[in-house]
Formats: sequence, structure tokens, C-alpha cells
Amino acid sequence: MSRILIVFASVDGQAARVAERIRATLAQAGHAAATIGAVAPGLARALEESDAVIVGGAIRYGRHVQDLESVVRTHVAAIEARPNAFFSVSLSAGGPGARPAVAARYAEELAERSGWHPQGTAIFAGALRYTRYNPIIRIMMRLIVGIAGGDTDTTRDYEYTDWRAVERFAGEFGSRLEAARAA
Ligand SMILES: Cc1cc2nc3c(=O)[nH]c(=O)nc-3n(C[C@H](O)[C@H](O)[C@H](O)COP(=O)(O)O)c2cc1C
Repeated sequence: MSRILIVFASVDGQAARVAERIRATLAQAGHAAATIGAVAPGLARALEESDAVIVGGAIRYGRHVQDLESVVRTHVAAIEARPNAFFSVSLSAGGPGARPAVAARYAEELAERSGWHPQGTAIFAGALRYTRYNPIIRIMMRLIVGIAGGDTDTTRDYEYTDWRAVERFAGEFGSRLEAARAA
């Protein structure tokens, strides 16, 4: 059993949901998995006490949210000292009008900027939460998403996340840890 910390940065909740599904999948496999927000005060200590770490978060305006970038930059040594992986959540990654190459590029840019080259990377489709955006964001998102060929009914929300892919990513991370411990 490994103590696995999942650090996440989320604005509208989808990256938090992904983090929680990763946690639940790892817990089901017998690991002591816990999630923590990127700005939580106990983060440094939680990292030190973990055997492995997964870091991930959402894309906003063409790059990962600032909290995610900060956490990676600040804690890169602690992250790299353990088995680690990264996940990114965006609309470019999946759903109608997706641009997977753009989604992959976001992850590469984070690695370039932060110097952290994760041992594993997963790119997950996010969600469109029109009903929760403020009016300006709602209009802006409808415009951008419409141009890209995506869903534009602002009276409802859309979720594109492939939860099986999230579970697979978590399962494979847990299996790699077990294999490393057994070796
Ligand atoms: C204001 C805003 C800007 C966004 N910018 C991008 C973007 O540049 N590229 C992209 O692929 N997705 C973009 N998205 C989509 C988000 O990455 C997606 O909705 C994701 O699920 C958000 O995760 P969160 O709920 O954890 O914040 C944007 C969403 C919002 C609301």
C-alpha cells in the first residue's frame, strides 16, 4: 500500500472531479490515496509524507491555471523525488470541436516552463458549465466554442470527460507503484 497524494487546481470543479475519481480508483486498489487543492496550506507537508504524487488541473485561457503552475514550480523537487504523474483537463482534449494536438501542447508548455517532466501524462476532456458561468463568461464561451464547432446550448451543461480513461490512468499508476515495490 502506497500513500498517494493527488494535487489539483480547478476553477469550475471538473479537474477536482477528475482528482476525486483518481483517488477513489486508487483507494479501491488498496492504496491510501488523498486529494489536496493546490493552494491548501498543508500542501508542503502532505507532499513530504507521500510516497507518490499525481498533479493535475484545468486549462483556462490557453494555459494551465496559475495555481497549478505555481505548485509545480514551488514543489518540483518534492514531486520529482517520488513516482509522479500529471493530468490536464481541457475542452481541447475532447468533445465536439476538440483539438487534441492543442491539448497536448498545453502539457508540453507546462513542462517547458516549470522544468518538471512527469513520468506519465494524461490529457482528459473537461466540461462546459454554461449554467454556472457568469453572463460574460457564458457569452464568451458560447462564441469561442461555437467557432470551434462545439456545443452552444447555454441553457445546459455538457460533460465530455471519459471516466473510464481516468480510471485507467489511476489504475496504471497504482500498478506501476506496486510493481516498483515488488522489484
Ligand atoms: C474562461 C474559460 C477559459 C477556458 N479556456 C480554455 C482554453 O484556452 N483551452 C481549452 O482547451 N479549454 C479551455 N477552457 C475549458 C476548461 O479547460 C474546461 O471547461 C475544464 O473542464 C475546466 O476545468 P475546471 O472545471 O476544473 O475549472 C476554458 C474554460 C473557461 C470557463
